[in-house]
Amino acid sequence: MAVLVLYATVEGHSRKIADKVAAQLENAGEAVVLADVRDPGFAVPGRFDGVLLCAPVHMGRYPDPIIRFATDWKDALDAVPNAFVSVSLGINSENEEERAEAEAYPAKLEKKTGFRPRRIHNAAGALKFLEYDFFKRIVMRRIAEKEGGPLDTSMDFEFTDWDALEAFVAEFAKEVAQNADAEPSAI
Ligand SMILES: Cc1cc2nc3c(=O)[nH]c(=O)nc-3n(C[C@H](O)[C@H](O)[C@H](O)COP(=O)(O)O)c2cc1C
Repeated sequence: MAVLVLYATVEGHSRKIADKVAAQLENAGEAVVLADVRDPGFAVPGRFDGVLLCAPVHMGRYPDPIIRFATDWKDALDAVPNAFVSVSLGINSENEEERAEAEAYPAKLEKKTGFRPRRIHNAAGALKFLEYDFFKRIVMRRIAEKEGGPLDTSMDFEFTDWDALEAFVAEFAKEVAQNADAEPSAI
């Protein structure tokens, strides 16, 4: 079976998540194409038995390339088992309202694009203080403070629950396999 894993990223953490997803699917015997959504090449959703998209939230929205891709390919995405991994810091907040806001980002994506993922996983992202420029570091430290996060800007922090992600991907892989058994692959 062939699975497409597409990611958008600004600081690299969503790519790391997509890498892990691709490795897990490969270990499970899938033929995986992993691509940056800005440059998917011939990786069009309709040619795959399943598609997983992964994108981070920045300033309350997902990057434009994932919005464009989901808009352009929503029908093809809809036709196969699909999943969406939303990467944010809000989902890890101590503040209930911020967690609820983070949980609502995928619904906003659906409203904007018309693409309704069959499965959604909210993954906590990373704080990359060492990579931010001066102003971003100040802004992100303020956000971290609001969310009850770490304030030491001399290091990076990663909040992703890798076990929860693995469990989500395993369920998605099961759906892909069941669907492919019922419907032979187009490639
Ligand atoms: C400038 C900036 C803005 C961000 N805005 C939000 C936000 O509005 N809501 C949120 O939950 N997380 C926000 N984050 C956290 C990112 O989602 C998190 O750092 C994620 O790991 C980034 O993924 P990426 O490395 O793939 O770009 C923001 C991060 C940065 C650097």
